[in-house]
Amino acid sequence: MSDGGHVWWEDAIVYQVYPRSFADADGDGVGDLPGLRSRLGYLADLGVDAIWLTPFYPSPLADGGYDVSDYCAVDPLLGTMADFDALVSSAAAHQIRIIVDLVPNHCSSAHPLFRAALAAAPGSPERARFFFRDGPGNGQGARNGQSGAQPPNNWPSQFGGSAWTRVTEGQWYLHLFDTSQPDWDWRNPDVPALFEDVIRFWLDRGVAGLRVDVAHGIFKDPLLPDLTGPRALNAPSAYRHRPELQPLYRSWRAILDSYPDDGFPGSRTAIGEVWYDVPETLRPYLEPGGLPQVFNFQLILAGWRADEFHAAIDSALAVTGGSRAPWVIGNHDVARPASRYRLDEGFTPQTISRLIAHGDRNADAGARRARAAALVLLALPGSAYIYQGEELGLPEVTDIPDGARQDPRFFRTKGEYPGRDGCRVPLPWSGTGTGFGFSRTGQGSSPAGPWLPQPPDWGRYSVEFQLTDEHSTLNLYRSALRLRRDHPALGPGELRWLGPDAGGLLCFAREPGFILAANLGAAPVPLPAHREVLLTSGPVTGGSLPPDTAAWLCT
Ligand code: NOJ
Repeated sequence: MSDGGHVWWEDAIVYQVYPRSFADADGDGVGDLPGLRSRLGYLADLGVDAIWLTPFYPSPLADGGYDVSDYCAVDPLLGTMADFDALVSSAAAHQIRIIVDLVPNHCSSAHPLFRAALAAAPGSPERARFFFRDGPGNGQGARNGQSGAQPPNNWPSQFGGSAWTRVTEGQWYLHLFDTSQPDWDWRNPDVPALFEDVIRFWLDRGVAGLRVDVAHGIFKDPLLPDLTGPRALNAPSAYRHRPELQPLYRSWRAILDSYPDDGFPGSRTAIGEVWYDVPETLRPYLEPGGLPQVFNFQLILAGWRADEFHAAIDSALAVTGGSRAPWVIGNHDVARPASRYRLDEGFTPQTISRLIAHGDRNADAGARRARAAALVLLALPGSAYIYQGEELGLPEVTDIPDGARQDPRFFRTKGEYPGRDGCRVPLPWSGTGTGFGFSRTGQGSSPAGPWLPQPPDWGRYSVEFQLTDEHSTLNLYRSALRLRRDHPALGPGELRWLGPDAGGLLCFAREPGFILAANLGAAPVPLPAHREVLLTSGPVTGGSLPPDTAAWLCT
């Protein structure tokens, strides 16, 4: 839909649903599509424009569904294709669009094409869809002239250990993630053809867009060279930010644009998950005719300091403008903001371990800061994504027993990294009931417990509880989203910084007549001149803004 000359996604509020943890309709302890559908009213009241659904496809669940064994089906644990269609049409009735996850870098080792590759011989067309290689034959372990016992190169898996696994007859296959997630070789013409079909399959079913998993990583240097020297984590490399990506994304954009929405081409979006060290890296992805959008992770990477937030926002805006790189403060891969902001620094792979070591210290500050960060997020120009549970102020669950953990990162690092389960714990909907209302069943049968254990005090974060408290985080989000929808200064557009970030004050104006002021420092700061206070993230009295508090002001 085009509205006044801009496309819906340019200033959309998109709510990320991790389906297994959102709402469980059939009582098996795992969230599902009917559960989500039954809660669309909640999302409509919250005021979101679209839902990004993380993978709900058939999967052995070695990586929370990012190990896909069938790209064009619904995992039976989560529902049926009829449930998906019903979800899309019910969501549309609430003016909510659906964005689905596309996982093009790798599939599951249970995917029929990978099974066929395993069953086929080295050098076969079946193997050519993936990266099967011989290890260098260094003599040690080489069997009768077959492949060597060392992996073909030194690439690490993102989840720990080598990116190569050896198969019985001696070859190795590449997996940038878990062993069970073999990487596709995108230079093989079967692969782009397969994904074109997948993209059309979901667009034909009425989805408004795609979130593209590992969008920076799907092409590899064909020589698969060793990584050498020290390198920044997400800098361009033999498997990151390759120039071959741009023509591919132009071809996808052409497909998206061939599906007008309400007669308006350009309405279907694709948003790339592109991790970077410096926002400049995003520039090629946003060339005309390329991906409509990429994620902007600046607010995840910034520490809780006004100068860091200011620099992070500026550097993203310089490259992307607001609309093409939606803002986020969390997702299913990073520690929850209400806990993360207890530490002053931005997110790194070590953050979750550091939070565990930190114990309960600063818990209140973390909660206050996450509320303030939400007001910053929602005042910025362009679109923003909210990860389920952020609107409830859920903390990271840091004490999941090892035996209950699911994340391959935990297993592949032998526990060195606790993994991402702590931000994926099922949502609490009510103060009581199995899983605090997460699981519902009819006919008196008793539901199973949630697939990841919830903390015993989770009821105080529940939707039911927060709806009755006018100062709750849920009501803060609801008010902010309502104001954002109605205020002419919010949504697309520009911002103008006000003053230096003296004393921790982060402050910008948007026209007409709006100021965001957030105090990321340790002492109260005077509120900027204003006519009216529209909304604050915490108590504000007597013309000064307390630490860890943000205000929306009218001038
Ligand atoms: C990014 C996804 O967000 C994450 O959850 C997943 O583990 C990796 N890509 C691999 O698919």
